[in-house]
Amino acid sequence: MAAVSTVSQDILNPQLQIEGSARLNGVLQVSGAKNSALVLMTAALLCPEPVELCNVPNLTDIAGMVEILQTLGVRVQRDGDRMVLDASTLTSHEPPYQLVNSLRASFFSIGSLLGRLGHAKVPLPGGCRIGARPVVEHIRGLKSLGAHVTVEHGVVSASVPGTKKRLKGASIVLDCPSVGATETILMAAVLAEGTTTIENAAQEPEVQDLANMLVAMGADISGAGGPLITIHGVDQLHSVSSAYPVIPDRIEAGTFLIAAAITRSSLRVEPVVADHLSSVLQKLRDCGCKLDIDDLGITITPGDIQAVDITTQPFPGFPTDLQAPFMALMTTAKGTSVISEKIYENRLQHVAELQRMGASIRVEGSTAIVEGVVQLSAAPVTGSDLRASAAMVIAGLAAHGTTSVSGLKHLDRGYDRIESKLTAVGARLERNLA
Ligand code: UD1
Repeated sequence: MAAVSTVSQDILNPQLQIEGSARLNGVLQVSGAKNSALVLMTAALLCPEPVELCNVPNLTDIAGMVEILQTLGVRVQRDGDRMVLDASTLTSHEPPYQLVNSLRASFFSIGSLLGRLGHAKVPLPGGCRIGARPVVEHIRGLKSLGAHVTVEHGVVSASVPGTKKRLKGASIVLDCPSVGATETILMAAVLAEGTTTIENAAQEPEVQDLANMLVAMGADISGAGGPLITIHGVDQLHSVSSAYPVIPDRIEAGTFLIAAAITRSSLRVEPVVADHLSSVLQKLRDCGCKLDIDDLGITITPGDIQAVDITTQPFPGFPTDLQAPFMALMTTAKGTSVISEKIYENRLQHVAELQRMGASIRVEGSTAIVEGVVQLSAAPVTGSDLRASAAMVIAGLAAHGTTSVSGLKHLDRGYDRIESKLTAVGARLERNLA
C-alpha cells in the first residue's frame, strides 16, 4: 500500500533531480517572452482578421491562454513557435472563471473585448501567493474611457453605453505604473474615438512590444516604453503583414545569466536585448561578472562573486521577477547582501527553502539580509511560485549533492524546456515522473 501511495504522489508531484556543482559551458537559448506573448495573444481579439505571431514560447501559461481564447470563439493554430489567432469568429465576451483564475494575464482581455465588442464580463483574477495584486487601475482606466463598469460576486462587467458602442479617448493618470493596467487601457483605447493619454504608464519592454504589434495592426500609438503613451483611436485594426516576433524573454535570460554566475561558469545567453536587462546586468557586473554584450546576446564570465544589494522597482529598475533567482546567487557571495522586495508584499517565500539548503538569511519585513556561505548543500525543496521555483533550480545547480525540486507546475508556467536547455550546456538534471 505504502509503495503505491508514494508512486501516485510522485506522479502528482514530479520533481527535478539536480546533481549540483557541475560547470556549465556553451550557449543557452532564450525563448520568446511569456509576459509579452500572453498579452499579444489577447490583443489579437481586437482584430477581425487572423494575426500571426512567431517566437511564442512553449509554456503551460500559453496553453492556458489558448484555451481561454478558444472558449471565446477564437480559432488558434500552432506550429512550433508560430501561432495564428483568428478572432473573426469571436462569439463570446465572457472568459470562464476557472481559466481566468489560474492565469492572471487573461484578465487583461477585458480591454480588448470592450474595445472590439463594446462589452465584456471577466472574473476578477484574485490574489496570488506573492501578493494581493489588485486590478483597481485597470477598472479606473476603463471607466475613464467611458465604460460602465460594475463588480459583483467577483465578476467585472463592463459595457460601453450608447448605440455606437465605442469608447471615448481620455486623459488617464495611473496611481502606480501597473504593467497590466497599462496594457489593458492601451488595448481598450486603440479603437476608441479620439485621443487617449496614459501618464505614469508602465515602461516595461512588454508594454512596448504590445504597442509595436498594435501599430503593425494599424493602431496609432506613440511614447510606449516611456511614462507617457498617446493613442489616437482608429476605426479598425488589420492583420499583421508578416508573423510578429515576440521579444526574447528578459526574465528567462536573466535567470540563465544568474545560473552561470552561481556555477562560476562562462556561458553565452542568446538572444537577449541588453537594454531590457540593464539594471540586472549592472548588478551582475557589480558582483564580479564580466559581460561581453553584442547585438545577439551576452557572454558572461563570473569572477569571485561579491555581495551586492538589490531593491526591486518597476522597469527600468531591478525586476521583482528576478529577485528570487538573484537571492539564490547572493547566498554564495562573499559578504552580506540586503535584498528589498518593493513590488509584492509576500515574495520572500523562497527564503525558507534556501535556508534548507544551508543559506544564511534573515528576514526583516520585506527585506532579506543574506550572509554568503561557501557552498549550499542539496535538500528536497519546493518552489512556491514561478520565480521561486527558478531560484530553487539555480541553487540546486550550485549545491553539493542532489537537490530535488518540487513545485514544477509553477516552473513550467514560465520556463520553456528548462531541463533540455540546461542539460545542453552541461547541467546534470532530470525530471522524475514516476
Ligand atoms: C506583471 C507581470 C509580472 C510582474 C509584474 C511586475 C505579466 C503577465 N505579469 O504583472 O510577471 O511581476 O508585472 O513587474 O505581465 N498595483 C496596484 N493597483 C493596481 C494594479 C497594480 O496597487 O490596480 C500594484 C500591485 O499590487 C503590485 C504593482 O502594482 O505591487 C505591480 O503590479 P502590476 O504591474 O499590475 O503587475 P502585473 O501586470 O499583474
